[in-house]
Parts: sequence; structure tokens; C-alpha cells
Amino acid sequence: MRKIHVIGIGAGDPDHLTLQAVKALRSTDVFFILDKGEVKSDLVRLRRDILDAHLPDGAYRLVEARDPERDRAAGGAGYSPAVGDWRSARADIYERLIAEELGEDESGAFLVWGDPSLYDSTLGILEEILDRGAVPFDYDVVPGISSVSALVARHRTGLNRVARPVQITTGRRLAEGFPEGVDDVVVMLDAHQIFQKYADQDIDIYWGAYIGTPDEILASGPLAETAPRIAELRSEARERKGWIMDTYLLRRRPRG
Ligand SMILES: C[S@@+](CC[C@H](N)C(=O)[O-])C[C@H]1O[C@@H](n2cnc3c(N)ncnc32)[C@H](O)[C@@H]1O
Repeated sequence: MRKIHVIGIGAGDPDHLTLQAVKALRSTDVFFILDKGEVKSDLVRLRRDILDAHLPDGAYRLVEARDPERDRAAGGAGYSPAVGDWRSARADIYERLIAEELGEDESGAFLVWGDPSLYDSTLGILEEILDRGAVPFDYDVVPGISSVSALVARHRTGLNRVARPVQITTGRRLAEGFPEGVDDVVVMLDAHQIFQKYADQDIDIYWGAYIGTPDEILASGPLAETAPRIAELRSEARERKGWIMDTYLLRRRPRG
């Protein structure tokens, strides 16, 4: 039976790899790397660096494929169908890679950014392929250090306050309103700096871009005064690198 490892590789620092991840790398015959285009080529290079660091004898095969384009213009009601189509298109590619590139008794691996359980579609895609029934395989999941863990570690703070909940959400959701019943909110996938919408409230922000990489930028403080600084840092970095990946924690100060 073919075997697949879904390996969380951390948020950008090669030292984020766990010992379990390294063991899984060493038991893999074929690595599948999906290229998202030039903008994200830095991320592909980082995956190659990780392989070079942990498998210096190069005794593995690397298979690269191009990720399908996602219809990012689709908003509102069109958003979920667009994501669904994109996921199925990815499932077609993954299915073909597994069937054509992996021998019956070989093991393959997908190197997933951060932790595979958080805002990542790899597990859903593998389940979709298994549901189709044409290409059987077994798979396991190796957890990784998520960008959320890396963010709060770099700011030397926790995610929640004593006995309080924390919510992880997206920029798209935050744009609809500040989540109810929670004062600590982590925001990912925010291309539009939605935090600015809450700058008139008593909220602190802990922000990080390219966390764990040599380009890492951190900023924190009261939202009202920190938001404009983040906007500047963000646009400088975007211009310099051509892309940005950032995450932040919004922490509402206790009332009264
Ligand atoms: C598709 S999600 C993948 C999350 C990933 N599975 C994880 O565990 O971190 C991509 C989002 O993760 C966040 N992210 C991932 N890596 C990051 C990093 N090194 N620095 C800052 N944010 C990061 C950004 O919010 C980005 O938009």
C-alpha cells in the first residue's frame, strides 16, 4: 500500500521542524512540492533548503507541480464554491502525482507550511482522493509549529488570558465584525489590514510578518498608535519582496 506523510514544517525557520518531522522526512521516497507561482517561489526554496539540511545525501526524489490558480475575485456567496473548485482541481493533481510518481510500496510526503491542521487544505484534499476510490493509500499527519504559535512565542505572550477563550479567524471574517464573547482574536489570511477598522477601540495588537525567516518583522502596542506603523512596515516589505505573509493577535483590554 502506498503511504503518504503530511508533514508540518513550521512557519519558516528550518529549526521549527520537530524530531518527528525529521524522522518522517528520512522515511520518505518521494517529495511532492506544489509551486504557487513566482510570488511564492521563496516558499518552495525554503522547502528545498529543509530537504538539503536534513537529507544531505540527496537520496530522495522530488516531484514539482504547478498549483491551479484560485479565483480570488470571487467574494461573498461565490467564495465557498470558488474554494471548492480549487480544492477539486488540486485533488486531480495530487491524485495523479500519487498514482504516477509513487510505487505501490513507496512513501511520499507533502511538506505543509506551519501545522497541517490550521487553514490548510491538504488533509481535505487527501480525503477527497480517497473518497473517489481510484487511488488507495494510507496517510499520517505530523504536527508542525503553526504561525500562531511562532507569533506569540516571538512576542513572549500567551494566546489566551486566564480561563478565557481565544478565537482564530480570518481577515475576511474580522471584516464582518469583532467576534462576540471573546477578547483575544488571532487573525490570519488578512490581505487588507482589517485591524484598522478597530483602531478606535481599547485593543492591543501583536503583529508579525515572515515570522521565523530572516525577513521577520514584529510590532506590538496599542492598536490606535501601532496600526499606522504596521501599515508602513507592511507596504515597505511588500514592495521589497513582492509578497507578504502576516498574522496578528488582537487583545481587548479589560473594561472598567
Ligand atoms: C493558508 S494559511 C496557512 C497556515 C499554516 N498552516 C500555519 O499553521 O501557520 C496562510 C496564513 O498563515 C499565516 N502565516 C503563515 N506563515 C507565516 C509566517 N511565517 N509569518 C506570518 N504569518 C504566517 C498568514 O496569516 C498567512 O496568510
